[in-house]
Amino acid sequence: MSFAATTMLYFLLFTFIYLLFKLFLHPKQNTINHKKPPGPPTLPIIGNLHMLGKLPHRTLQSLSKRYGPIMSLQLGQVPTIVISSSKGAESFLKTHDIVFASRPKIQGSELMSYGSKGLPFSEYGPYWRSMRKFCTLKLLSASKVEKSGPIRKEELGVLVNTLKKASLVGEVVNVSEIVENLIEDIVYKMILGRGKYEQFDLKKMIKDGLTLMGAFNLADYVPWLGIFDLQGLTQACKKTSKALDEVLEMIITEHEQTTNTDDPKDFVDTVLSIMHQTIDVEGGQDLVIDRTIIKAILLDMIGASIDTSSNVIEWALSELLRHPRVMKILQDEIQNEVGNKRMVEEKDLKNFNYLDMVVDETLRLYPVAPLLIPRECRENITIDDYSIKEKTRVIVNAWAIGRDPDVWSENAEEFYPERFIEKKMNYLGQEFESIPFGSGRRRCPGIQLGMITVKLVIAQFVHCFNWELPHNISPSNLNMEEKFGLTIPRAQHLHAIPSYRLDDAKLE
Ligand code: HEM
Repeated sequence: MSFAATTMLYFLLFTFIYLLFKLFLHPKQNTINHKKPPGPPTLPIIGNLHMLGKLPHRTLQSLSKRYGPIMSLQLGQVPTIVISSSKGAESFLKTHDIVFASRPKIQGSELMSYGSKGLPFSEYGPYWRSMRKFCTLKLLSASKVEKSGPIRKEELGVLVNTLKKASLVGEVVNVSEIVENLIEDIVYKMILGRGKYEQFDLKKMIKDGLTLMGAFNLADYVPWLGIFDLQGLTQACKKTSKALDEVLEMIITEHEQTTNTDDPKDFVDTVLSIMHQTIDVEGGQDLVIDRTIIKAILLDMIGASIDTSSNVIEWALSELLRHPRVMKILQDEIQNEVGNKRMVEEKDLKNFNYLDMVVDETLRLYPVAPLLIPRECRENITIDDYSIKEKTRVIVNAWAIGRDPDVWSENAEEFYPERFIEKKMNYLGQEFESIPFGSGRRRCPGIQLGMITVKLVIAQFVHCFNWELPHNISPSNLNMEEKFGLTIPRAQHLHAIPSYRLDDAKLE
């Protein structure tokens, strides 16, 4: 019997058992009359899970057009609210931020983040607060970001030299791959204090992990179906988490042999300096920072920096290739400031207004985490006359919010950086028309690091090279499809031909 037929058979069988169970064991329905936001009809057991499809951010956007910007879904046994407008996001993430500052427990983070000990998935409370404070102050502060500037400069210099050689022979380069490798190299030097490990593909493990974390896993929505692992996700999470754990163990052991925690050289050293310290958690209890917490935090830092920045850069370069007009304005802006005899430096970035607009426009159309990271309601609350119960899951569709024609006009789907001429974004929680970094207490703590990396790489790429699409692809038919996971990378790699455009650049 085919997999689809077996799944259908299981589904019918479970539906039958479920209906019997409801009929005989729970004859009385809960009759409390609370007004729920509108939403589509549900099926027994799976609710609306079957409707999500391969690209849930798109499906949820079209459902919200029918049911409204604050919409109810029943995902298996989990009541869920989906927010698809900036006004809705403001209500949930600003006015009532504290109520929605927690994360639901999901199998992916339980298995891969050492019992959800990583920052993105830990529940709101003293543990999360301590870890967030540590990461913000000790790893991601403005001075730490500045300190890692020489690493970005060096790695970009090496890459520009390689691309210069490719340009001499008119080679088509895999832009997606070189961007991902570049970010990987920068991140490893900054976090691990060394280059790539040859013996394993950490980047691939991280990508697999993010896809698994973003997946709508039946085990999270219909827990009693979880034991059957119909989607194979439990198995995949276990396999990926085991592989990641081996790598993290090796990284930590290497550092333990050489580190002087009083003089940290990289993120691992800094994180190891808090090993065995205690944190105050609820009820006057202390929690000792053990090895699993150290591994969870390191995994967050590596995972959160690799895929995010490279995704933004790839989408920006794709749009620039589709819009030669925009590319030309950007190149002129940079050249007017820097000339054509040297590479861009980080100190130049503050002078590039049009680059800011190009990046804001890219983040509006391609928010790296299209559904942010899910939130969980911490108490019963009424918002806009709708009663929302404790433990309800909240999904914010940042992808739909950035494309809302009521906010961004009828050309919302178009890449048009000039729309930001009058509107400077700072992503610090005051604007909700585009929320690529989320908002409120759970907002991304890596904005500064992410932004400087993204801006420097894009500026360097377009300043040092002219770029053309391969001969069989025109700007209008470049494939712009995305894949869904916790992040949305391009479905197909971007390829292009660089030609070096500086006169006499110093590459050291
Ligand atoms: C352009 C790059 C980046 C984008 C677009 C981005 C986006 C996001 C988004 C959308 C969230 C979820 C926010 C929410 O639920 O409201 C998030 C959370 C997070 N990001 Fe980023 N991020 C980027 C770079 C980084 C970097 C470089 C780091 C650190 C090295 C980082 C670390 C984190 C962490 C730890 C969280 C979880 C915060 C929490 O739950 O308290 N991010 N990011």
